[in-house]
Amino acid sequence: MGKVVIMDHPLIKHKLSIMRDERTGTRDFRVLVEEIAMLMCYEALRDLPTELVKIKTPITEAELPMLTGKKLAVVPILRAGLGMTDGILALVPSAKVGHIGLCRDEVTREPHEYFCKLPENMDERLVILPDPMLATGGSAIMAVDAIKAHGCRQIKFMCLIAAPEGLEALKKAHPDIDIYIGNLDDGLNEDAYIVPGLGDAGDRIFGTK
Ligand code: PRP
Ligand code: URA
Repeated sequence: MGKVVIMDHPLIKHKLSIMRDERTGTRDFRVLVEEIAMLMCYEALRDLPTELVKIKTPITEAELPMLTGKKLAVVPILRAGLGMTDGILALVPSAKVGHIGLCRDEVTREPHEYFCKLPENMDERLVILPDPMLATGGSAIMAVDAIKAHGCRQIKFMCLIAAPEGLEALKKAHPDIDIYIGNLDDGLNEDAYIVPGLGDAGDRIFGTK
């Protein structure tokens, strides 16, 4: 059974509130997405295993903890997940990066895949899957399906804002993955946008409409 972690740090709450403000422009929005992703990544990787390694300091030789275990891959869900990637890589710079391109149909709300390029040996990696928004959950479920199809079994999905509907759907479809959420919002509106949300994350990151 995977865990669900909802962030409760005031820095994350504050930065999310600035992002949500409709007056926040593309440049600030992009910086905030990256900063929050970095703060969330710090929390999401709290359970990485370490092992003791002999290290000679200028004073003495000591057995000190170093990261061990699976190699990492970061696989942003395009487009909006790209905005979180550099924040994550700031903490784990040697992670490999894959991309999965999904787009929600404006009418049916169903996602469809238009691109998938993943690093080698996905079955041996811990995968961080960032996407700012978990709305109906359709995109996240499809992305996890695709990554599991490559043999990957350890997945941490990370989003800035989730709707309860999307969280329930993702947990039901993939109960084994860990889910990290910046804030759990009230729900979805009739257009399947998160309320209060922040609007269209991809458009706000890239300045499109
Ligand atoms: C947004 C968002 C998620 C998806 C969430 O992407 O970044 O991927 O919608 O909605 P869901 O949970 O209902 O599937 P969008 O499809 O707008 O593509 P974009 O990132 O290219 O803007
Ligand atoms: N995608 C977004 O970018 N925002 C939402 O609120 C829902 C889906």
